[in-house]
Amino acid sequence: MRNDEQVTIAYAAVEVRRPDRWRDFVDAITGGDARVDWNAARRSRALRVTEGPRDDLVALGLAWQDEAAYRDALARIAATGAMLETIEAEGAARAIRCADPAGNVLDLLLAEVTEPGDGSWPIGHVALASPSPEPLVDFYEAAIGLRLNERMRGRVGPLDLRGGFLGSPARHHCLAVLNVPGRRRLHHIEFEAPEVADVVGMRARAKAAKVPISLELGRHALPDGTVSFYAHTPSGFEIEVGAGMGAGVEGPAPEGPMPSVWGHELTLPARLRVMGALALQKAGL
Ligand SMILES: [Fe+2]
Repeated sequence: MRNDEQVTIAYAAVEVRRPDRWRDFVDAITGGDARVDWNAARRSRALRVTEGPRDDLVALGLAWQDEAAYRDALARIAATGAMLETIEAEGAARAIRCADPAGNVLDLLLAEVTEPGDGSWPIGHVALASPSPEPLVDFYEAAIGLRLNERMRGRVGPLDLRGGFLGSPARHHCLAVLNVPGRRRLHHIEFEAPEVADVVGMRARAKAAKVPISLELGRHALPDGTVSFYAHTPSGFEIEVGAGMGAGVEGPAPEGPMPSVWGHELTLPARLRVMGALALQKAGL
């Protein structure tokens, strides 16, 4: 049996063209409380932002704290045919870099995940976008060792959604893989606020700062249960600010998504972006 949170998000590293805009953006949606490492800081479960042309995810760090579990995972990953390369990673006893079946760079760390104790809001989950999510869901479940807590299959607005939510018995998901259309590897990253009241407060703050919102304040259906809103970053992917995620489910993963309990309306600019991305996808561009 896999124990709780055997593997966790260590960090998500993104390259952004406009770090100056990002600082204002993060301040407007989290009051500066989001755990973002702008330069040399290396906190657990942080978003690492560096300046660069991609405006997308450049590496996802995953951490195991137990050496035997780490070795088992490396063996399963190698068995998929993935190339494993040893890298240097500060604070990790071992670090291996590989790519998932879609080419997303993964840093696999044997490292302690410690809370920095500074009150910052950590990354709760990362959602990857792929037109073919099934091999990715299989890889993250069977090779990485996350628990598939919900499969996604169904129509949401203009989208025929497929994918999965992977986490642990204690956490509905720390990773989601969705076939949302677009040019980026990353669909969204969620920062986990301590309380639902913080999320509601930040939505008001974002409104005052005129930040573009993609999904309005709402609550995902159970078993997820997160209360959140989604803001459109200067890099073109989304940041979700949320609180209150539920646990995983016993037994086989149910099939979702159920509509949100309330809210999460797609705003008009976001709807237009989705329609545009769908049109490009249909045209094979
Ligand atoms: Fe999310």
